[in-house]
Amino acid sequence: METSSNYSPGLEGIVAGRTTISEIDEARSSLMFRGYDIRDLATKSTYEETAFLLLNGRLPDAAELAAFESRLKAERGVPGEVIDLLGKIPAHAHSMDVLRTGISLVGLFDPEEWDGSHDANIRKAERIIAKMPTLVALGYRLPHRMKPVEPRDDLPHAANFLYMLLDKEPDGPKGRIFDSSMIIYAEHEYNASSFAAHVTVSTLSDIYSGITAAVGTLKGPLHGGANEEVMKMLIDIGEGDKAEKWVMDRLGRKEKIMGFGHRVYKHGDSRAPILKEASKEVCEFDGYCHWHEIAVKVEEVVKREKGLLPNVDFFTASIYYLMGLPIETFTPVFAMARAAGWCAHVIEQLDDNRLIRPASEYVGQRGLVYKPVGER
Ligand code: ACO
Repeated sequence: METSSNYSPGLEGIVAGRTTISEIDEARSSLMFRGYDIRDLATKSTYEETAFLLLNGRLPDAAELAAFESRLKAERGVPGEVIDLLGKIPAHAHSMDVLRTGISLVGLFDPEEWDGSHDANIRKAERIIAKMPTLVALGYRLPHRMKPVEPRDDLPHAANFLYMLLDKEPDGPKGRIFDSSMIIYAEHEYNASSFAAHVTVSTLSDIYSGITAAVGTLKGPLHGGANEEVMKMLIDIGEGDKAEKWVMDRLGRKEKIMGFGHRVYKHGDSRAPILKEASKEVCEFDGYCHWHEIAVKVEEVVKREKGLLPNVDFFTASIYYLMGLPIETFTPVFAMARAAGWCAHVIEQLDDNRLIRPASEYVGQRGLVYKPVGER
């Protein structure tokens, strides 16, 4: 079958927009948010400061950061009706599906839902970023018939989430490492979920619809869902000395190893080495490096056999598991961190909107003669 010259399956290599939010330099395996290196942000910034940067295009001064943090704290709660409705969700529901429903529900209670101006979108973005961790914690606790844990004003964004989910504060370096993982997850250019948000709001739909579409898109195991699959794989392997055979069997069956490969990075995902270090630091703090060691063994075998390197979702699995997060919250955690990037993309799209409507190449039949159903 002949194809037109500009058709690219999966839109690979197609430039679908211009952005000032983030830049991937594939050749150098580097990633910049608004011009700042992710390695600096992950080690020196906080999630709140990075979210301000993504939304506003510049770093805040001290007063702006303090005001931004206060606004986020004030917006952490969700309406009682949302809690009541999420409480009716069946226990078997996956946390990511609950989050998708939760963010859509919260939009119904936002008085500015239909105001698509830049300033209203910034205000709504702050509410979304503030409420997503609460929705993730509720989205796990309520279907599991656990009592909600109220947000705490004295804790920063990341530590407060861990507190609301686990009903205890993070110890040692865990709050900082979790915060750093959220910075790393916060933004990544025109990935599938951000692009879904662009497409949705390009019809002049609202920001909540854009974020709901993005959550649904992130869920799949070829995208954000991979971090949960990685942890299931490490558990299935069970012991470091079984990793080699497990990976070889899987590759022999031509199956993919989750947490490896990337559409854009072909020389390694810039974020993975930072997370590998973090995984080591958490396990050494806990004195239990079982999962980290299996992960490192898997990494060695996949690199040797396929030349593939880990992506962002590989080492977050062992980090989050050791912190006590239930596996089904791993992708929702990715989503609540990515909320800052998604909102920045929605705002960038709407600030200079053009309906996104690509073309397709018709490869079906032509000229068929219609016969009424009784004559077929
Ligand atoms: N394990 C084994 N082989 C792989 C893997 C993998 N994880 N990833 C790619 N390959 C192989 C493919 O089998 C294919 O080989 P072939 O040419 O012999 O058929 C080749 O590499 C190209 O792979 P594609 O899937 O066509 O490349 P694409 O750019 O579409 O894939 C993707 C990118 C989807 C991320 C892929 O690498 C993958 O499925 N990885 C596993 C899932 C995963 O970790 N997703 C998270 C990505 S990061 C994120 O979204 C946040």
